[in-house]
Amino acid sequence: MRRFLPVLLLIVSLAAGARAQTASVASPDGSLVVTFSLENGRPTYRIDRFGLPLILPSRMGFVLQEQPPLVGPFRLVGLARDTVDTVWTQPWGEKKDIRSHYHELRLQLEETSERPRRMDIVFRVFDEGVGFRYEWPAQPNLDRFVIMDELTEFRLAGDHMAWWIPAYHPNRYEYLYRHTPVSQLDTVHTPVTMETADGWFLSFHEADVEDYATMTLAPKDSLTLEVDLVPWSDGTRVKAQTPFRSPWRVLLVGDDAGELITNYTILNLNPPNRLGDVSWVRPAKYVGIWWEMHIGRSTWGSGPRHGATTENAKRYIDFAARHGFDAVLIEGWNVGWDGDWTQNGDKFRFTEPYPDFDIEEVARYAREKGVQLIGHHETACHITNYERQMEDAFAFYRRLGIHMVKTGYVAHGRNCVWIDEQGREHREWHHGQFMVRHHRRVLETAARYQIAINAHEPVKDTGERRTYPNMVSREGARGQEYNAWSEDGGNPPEHTTILPFTRLLAGPMDFTPGIFDILIEDRPNNRVNTTLAKQLALYVVIYSPLQMAADLPEHYEARPDAFQFIKDVPVDWEDTRVLHARIGDYVTIVRKDRHSDDWYLGSITDEYGRTLRAPLSFLEPGRKYVAEIYRDAPDADWRTNPLAIEITRQIVDASTVLTLRLAPGGGTAIRFHPVEE
Ligand code: NOJ
Repeated sequence: MRRFLPVLLLIVSLAAGARAQTASVASPDGSLVVTFSLENGRPTYRIDRFGLPLILPSRMGFVLQEQPPLVGPFRLVGLARDTVDTVWTQPWGEKKDIRSHYHELRLQLEETSERPRRMDIVFRVFDEGVGFRYEWPAQPNLDRFVIMDELTEFRLAGDHMAWWIPAYHPNRYEYLYRHTPVSQLDTVHTPVTMETADGWFLSFHEADVEDYATMTLAPKDSLTLEVDLVPWSDGTRVKAQTPFRSPWRVLLVGDDAGELITNYTILNLNPPNRLGDVSWVRPAKYVGIWWEMHIGRSTWGSGPRHGATTENAKRYIDFAARHGFDAVLIEGWNVGWDGDWTQNGDKFRFTEPYPDFDIEEVARYAREKGVQLIGHHETACHITNYERQMEDAFAFYRRLGIHMVKTGYVAHGRNCVWIDEQGREHREWHHGQFMVRHHRRVLETAARYQIAINAHEPVKDTGERRTYPNMVSREGARGQEYNAWSEDGGNPPEHTTILPFTRLLAGPMDFTPGIFDILIEDRPNNRVNTTLAKQLALYVVIYSPLQMAADLPEHYEARPDAFQFIKDVPVDWEDTRVLHARIGDYVTIVRKDRHSDDWYLGSITDEYGRTLRAPLSFLEPGRKYVAEIYRDAPDADWRTNPLAIEITRQIVDASTVLTLRLAPGGGTAIRFHPVEE
């Protein structure tokens, strides 16, 4: 319930001649406190945790085009408080029921100038994080406006160690994480995660980016980060019209790195489901005509080695049906892939199959075998070409009974193309307002055809899946494919021990785990830098409602023992807990299947071997379970002996403490299945 308080109730202090108005809001358990101040009419905020500063007084405001900046002086014309404590249910997810419990403070500001403009600042303070946003109500003195710069600052209380990737580099989000003090940061993408000297864990991100540029964070001085909105090609940041609001600027907080993983603040700050009944959005495990192109065995383009032929598609459909997979992804089926497709995005045709791919027959065959198809729209980020065909493209797939489409936006740097009404070409970043708008259009169009989206080279995830549950997964980080072709040797063992605490805080990732041909026989200069057991553990560690068994059918059928785990592991969870968490070193996650009483465990390490103790107290007390354990053999090592796996069974219960022995670059995957009574 919202309570409006007269402004008089504010603490008004007079200090050294400067007039400061201050209002505070604490989290439900009181551990986090946000204090907002108008210092000489200029807005600042600070955040304290257990009485110690987390964010020192930091500036807020905006530079606008052809208008005075929105930085004050303001006066406070209203203030409202609210408390929310609810539980909502995800249609699919890493946890079924999510509690949203926060205290809200809304400050209504008005400039003291002659033609005053209005702006609200809203804080929501949870025990495990803070969100704040700006809102501009409809008003006579502010209608259309253009944001040239957002001045929101985060003044950190120390030179924390940070895990980060650089922004404004050619490969979007696809970089290895660096671990440095904050004082050595470039301009960085979010989520950016930090550990304070006192052992608190923080992560900065944003939520509910509806019609705005996404934010990067730029160092302003050694301990201050400033919001740096990804610009349009014309140099502006955000084109707006009142009523309008910014995304939430979000800070997640935990005493243990694992608490960041089970922190649902970003989802809680997104609006509820707008699509209504989304029973047509189904989590899925899939295989596909994909890895064979990445390792060079076949091609996306037409010709003698074309991967997406009718015959090959049927081979994958048969394989999926034989082993109980839900779906088959087919890439390279449509006209446009020949030549340098990354430069010729305007050549893609989204309803025209290559002549050797009989899409009607493939769809019929898949239906007969009870397997879904996953469609593919690679756009090379030629947005105008895609949007002109988008309606037809989704209608086409819908007619074929397809409910899931993987989209792709391969383009390097500021190269997402649109053509204006005068025929002029413009090139945008993947993360500016232009692409935010595009991705919303895709989600809304796809939803009308009951199609779910898995976006590669996407705009970053800010929790849209709550509002649009057809936004099922995305890439947005270095995935498995880098192991197939990257000249830098692929993803080092520690990469996947950092992702859960950084990129994955934003949302699910289509990482495409499960490569069994670790040494990649077709690619002498590339390999996967893990053990086989670690490939299995990634199905639990990396959350996605869409998980691929990425390797070739023959590689799975050669290892039916290890393959069994991939066949068993679910993709939709009732609960998630973190047993061990050291960013960049190791992580152990357990999840409960949403549709059975089974639990699953995934534990992975970096290049160092480890022995971790895992108490099984998450299991139902008094119940016995069979633990099917897939672990590194005693002589396993990602460099020298990656395939050495041991598969054992043992009876366990909630009082058992298992010892997980992880080889260098290794992992353990376990299925816990109740013993039938
Ligand atoms: C890059 C994507 O990440 C990959 O999954 C896809 O196969 C290629 N682009 C081609 O669309």
